[in-house]
Amino acid sequence: METWRDTYREKRVSAQEALRRVKSGDRVVLGHACGEPPTLVNALVDRAPELFGVEVIHMVAMGPAKYAQPGMEQHFRHNGFFVGASTRKAVEEGRGGLIPCFFSEIPRMFSDRILPVDVLLMQVTPPDAEGFCSFGVSADYTLAAARSARTVIAQMNSLLPRTGGARIHLDDLTWIVEQDEPVIELAPPKIGELERRIGENVAALIPDGATLQLGIGAIPDAVLLFLEGKKDLGIHSEMFSDGVVHLAEAGVVTNRRKTLNPGKFIATFLMGTRKLYDFVHQNPDVELHPADYTNDPYIIGQHDNMVSINSALQVDLMGQVNAEMIGSRQFSGIGGQVDFVRGASRSRGGKSIIAMPSTAAKGTISRICRELDRGSAVSTSRNDVHFVVTEFGPADLRGKTLEQRAEALIAISHPDFRSELREQLQQAAGVP
Ligand code: COA
Repeated sequence: METWRDTYREKRVSAQEALRRVKSGDRVVLGHACGEPPTLVNALVDRAPELFGVEVIHMVAMGPAKYAQPGMEQHFRHNGFFVGASTRKAVEEGRGGLIPCFFSEIPRMFSDRILPVDVLLMQVTPPDAEGFCSFGVSADYTLAAARSARTVIAQMNSLLPRTGGARIHLDDLTWIVEQDEPVIELAPPKIGELERRIGENVAALIPDGATLQLGIGAIPDAVLLFLEGKKDLGIHSEMFSDGVVHLAEAGVVTNRRKTLNPGKFIATFLMGTRKLYDFVHQNPDVELHPADYTNDPYIIGQHDNMVSINSALQVDLMGQVNAEMIGSRQFSGIGGQVDFVRGASRSRGGKSIIAMPSTAAKGTISRICRELDRGSAVSTSRNDVHFVVTEFGPADLRGKTLEQRAEALIAISHPDFRSELREQLQQAAGVP
C-alpha cells in the first residue's frame, strides 16, 4: 500500500503557512548554493517583523541573502560556512559570522547535533513512483540536516533536475510547498589570456585516465579548455559546472578508468546554467552524494591518479596557502580545498594543484609572498601543499626543503617581484 500518497496531500501547504512554524530563536538551515529554495527564503524574510534572533545557517549563498541586509540584525543572524558575494559585507560589518569547518565535516555538524537544526528549508523534485524525491543540485549537507531537523520544509520544484544518488522520502518531509521556479544559475566565468596560460600549465600535469576535482571559477574552467586531447578522464569532485558537460560530450570525460564508481560523475553539488541542469536530469551516470562521502579524504584517496585543482589568494615562500582572506577580511571559505588536497595526496599517482595568477589587484600585488598578510589564515598548510601553478609554470613543492621551496616559488612569481622576494628572503635569513 502506498501510504505516502495520502500523507503527501496532507503535507501540502502554502509557503506562508509552512514558514509559520519558524519561531524566534530558532536555528534555520538553508539548502546549499543553487539548491537554495527562493520561495521559502522569501517567505521567511517576509516574517522578519514578528521574528527575533533567528539564526540562518548557510554555506555558499547564491541568493540575495536579504536576511543579512542592514536593518535585519534584530530579526536574523546569518552564520555561514563560507562567505560569498551576497554575505561578504554582512560578515565584515558584524551582521554575520563564519564557522570554520572542512566541507567534509559539515554534515556531522548537524547529524552529531553540534549545531542542532530546528528548521531546514530546502528544494526537492516531485516524488518518483516510490515516493522518493531527488535533492536536485545539492546533496552536500542537506540530507544530514533533514535527518536531524525538527521541521523539514521542502519547496517541490519540477524545474529542478532529478539527479541520482542521495534522495529523500516524502515521509521524511514535514511540509511541502509546491512551487515551480527557475533554479538559480551561475553564468560561466570570463576566461582571459592569463587564465588560459594558467589552464595550459595545469593541464600539462594531468595524465590520461586521471580522476579530477575542479573548484569554481575561471581557472578551473580554463583548465578544461586544454583537456580536449586527453583520454578517459573521470570526475569525482565537490562540484562541477558547464565546462565538464562539453568535455563529456566530446568523449574526453568517460569516467571509465575511475577506481571508485567507474562510469559515474560523482559530486556533492552542481552550479551552472540550464545546460548543466539538462545534462544531469535523469542521467543515470550522474550521482550527487553527501559531502561526508564525496569530500572524505579517505574516499578521495582511493582513486588512482586523483588530481585536485583549486585556487588561492596568496602562497607564502614556505608553501602555506591562503585561499580565504584578504588581510583580516574574510573573502571566501575553505570549502573542500583541504579535503581534496589531502585526498589527492593519499592517491596512488595523485597530485594536488593550487593554481592562481602570480599577481592580484591589476598586477600591483604579488600573490607569492614572503609572509601571508597580517590577519589572514592558512587554508592549506605547508605540510599538505604539493603543486603551485601560475602563468609562469608549476612549482612542485613536495619533498623540497624550505630553501628549495622558496626558490621554486620565486621562479613562478611575476618577474617584476622576483628580486624583491629574494631580498626579503635574504633579510629574513640575516644575510646583509
Ligand atoms: N591581495 C589583495 N587582493 C587580492 C589578493 C591578494 N593577495 N588576491 C586576490 N585579490 C583580489 C583580486 O585582485 C580580486 O579583486 P578584483 O576582482 O577587484 O580584481 C579579488 O581579490 C578576487 O580574487 P580572485 O583570485 O579573482 O578570486 P576568485 O574568484 O578566482 O576566487 C578564491 C579565488 C581562492 C577566493 C576561491 O577559489 C576560493 O574561495 N577558494 C577556497 C575554496 C576552495 O578552494 N574550494 C574548493 C572547491 S569549490
